[in-house]
Amino acid sequence: MFDYHTAFSRNLGWVTEAEQEILRTKRIAIAGLGGVGGSHIITLTRLGVGSFSIADFDRFEIQNFNRQAGANVSNLDKPKVDVMAAMARDINPELDVRCFPTGVDDDNLDAFLDGVDLYVDSLDFFALDIRNKVFNACAAKGIPAVTAAPLGMGAALLVFMPGAMSYEEYFRMQGQDPDEQALRFMMGLAPARLQLSYLVDDTRVDFNAKKGPSTPMACELCAGFAATYALKILLDRGDVIVAPRGIHFDAYRNKLSTTWRPGGNNNPVQRLGLMVARRMVMAKRDAGITEQASLDTPIERVLDLARWAPSGDNEQPWKFELVDAHRAVIYTHDTRDWCVYDLDGTSSQIAVGALLETIRIAATGEGMVANCLRRDTESASELVFDVTLAPEPTVAADRHLHFVRSRVTQRKPLSTKALGARQKQALETAVGDGYRILWFDQAPLRRRMAKVLFHNAHIRLATPEAYEVHRKNIDWGARFSQDRLPEHALGVDLLTRKVMRWALTSWQRVTFLNRFFAGTWLPRLQMDLATGLRCAAHFVIVSEQPLQSIDDYINGGRAMQRFWLEATRQNLQLQPEMTPMIFSRYVEQGIAFTSLPAEQQLAQRLAGELSHLLGDGERTAHRVYMGRVGYGPAPTSRSIRPPLEKLLVNTAQ
Ligand SMILES: Cc1cc2nc3c(=O)[nH]c(=O)nc-3n(C[C@H](O)[C@H](O)[C@H](O)COP(=O)(O)O)c2cc1C
Repeated sequence: MFDYHTAFSRNLGWVTEAEQEILRTKRIAIAGLGGVGGSHIITLTRLGVGSFSIADFDRFEIQNFNRQAGANVSNLDKPKVDVMAAMARDINPELDVRCFPTGVDDDNLDAFLDGVDLYVDSLDFFALDIRNKVFNACAAKGIPAVTAAPLGMGAALLVFMPGAMSYEEYFRMQGQDPDEQALRFMMGLAPARLQLSYLVDDTRVDFNAKKGPSTPMACELCAGFAATYALKILLDRGDVIVAPRGIHFDAYRNKLSTTWRPGGNNNPVQRLGLMVARRMVMAKRDAGITEQASLDTPIERVLDLARWAPSGDNEQPWKFELVDAHRAVIYTHDTRDWCVYDLDGTSSQIAVGALLETIRIAATGEGMVANCLRRDTESASELVFDVTLAPEPTVAADRHLHFVRSRVTQRKPLSTKALGARQKQALETAVGDGYRILWFDQAPLRRRMAKVLFHNAHIRLATPEAYEVHRKNIDWGARFSQDRLPEHALGVDLLTRKVMRWALTSWQRVTFLNRFFAGTWLPRLQMDLATGLRCAAHFVIVSEQPLQSIDDYINGGRAMQRFWLEATRQNLQLQPEMTPMIFSRYVEQGIAFTSLPAEQQLAQRLAGELSHLLGDGERTAHRVYMGRVGYGPAPTSRSIRPPLEKLLVNTAQ
């Protein structure tokens, strides 16, 4: 019933009959039958290639489902080589498939490459040792070798031909430790790095735990790329781009990039890139961004997610006490006694609201409802909550559940592309009853807002009260910080960061810089004016009722967190812009927040301008939260959180 010529006749036209016959006689070796390997053998079989040598020691698991050609329920726990050989033979029963069910190793490498016309690499990214050996063996035996790497929603292709630059000459792996080899492989594979700009959750890339995210589209693109090159190499057709040149196509970015790195990883551009990448990996390792150990009880899992709630300057004014598997006590403290931005503790209360809302959302992931009750305590600064989780069969996972970890503050300029009506609507709905959104999205309004922010920043940068806060809350040199704002997340360039770091070590330096060098200009232009102009919109969350009590602010914080999570769900970046609102409240209440009269006067003037802009006159008590949103990449530096155990207190009952 099966007939080779009929089965692959639709290739004819793009290949001649004679070429199809040549493909039928060729043998391709594929090591690794996971994400790309499975797609490779299927695509190459359909191209009419007649023989394969395939190797993999692994079995299909559920986490392979997003991308691996053979991963489906009926193949769970079956050896990948067996499944893929069977799938390929189901397409071409005449196939000659040599299976290596223990994977490739030193002992079978020769047999694996015996009689092979082309090697298509699809080993696990981190299987670096054996990959080096396979490529080196290919070079020694004169076998062309192709590697197509699935990156984001694109594919990067590198080809090593006999007589041209070798894998080792390109990647320079010899004598390097495994971590360095992984970096070199990554940087060498895709010098264009097209995929990085749309990575939405950087914490999912974990070089230290040898884990990274993947997409099915990238694997399919790789298979298309590699099979095209297989055709060209095996049929001696057309121009083949060979290392040190590489091609990277990114479907998400609509971009094709051809790179050229003479000397491979020894090239000065690559060396610089490697240096930066090394620093980023180290910073992540030092910051402890690794996979959490699995947690035993629902309350631990809920709190483990809730600790990602935002708080002013990443202060996290809370501690948790575990009572049993379903109960905990939360102890909070505000920072009004030392932080000028925490007037009456309201900023802390908003953060506590965000925490409680996140607990509610996290509980839905456990099929539970969370009940958070505030105790009647004497102190307004130290609030205590009893949290109880109760199973509720009807509760569905909240639609914001999966955005808690990836919600982040982006302090860099964003795209000015307008928000769609649907997005605005979704954000307006997210805050819930009792709250509205004021939008400032037209260019003239954004300009006016940027101006207010620019002038307002002078207060932040020229008052000793704010200086004390920044001195304490910026984690200099850090890309990730568990308890402060990392330097790299400030959203300013290297020079400005260096100047700020120098100045913030003493108040004398700040005043010197401000007096003689207009020291506030550089940071204000970048942190406030540029960002104020470059966004889709500024927003203010307002409450129908004036905010009067602690609970009003806590509830406002809950609405704020829903808004932020919805923005994350909509793929938008967000930055709070709370300080103009906070200084305005000082002014309105007639409280002097600084010893510098000129800055107090500036605050007075700006409070008027903000009121004018917001058009809310005496309704200032209704303002909950202010910020900006827009499209753009996620930040590459962010505040993180200490592990849950560090947030626990032991006041055993
Ligand atoms: C009440 C409150 C006020 C904030 N004010 C500002 C602000 O004025 N400017 C800013 O850039 N970030 C502000 N943030 C963001 C925090 O600095 C940020 O949430 C925190 O550092 C944690 O980082 P993450 O949001 O990236 O997880 C504020 C957050 C909260 C909860």
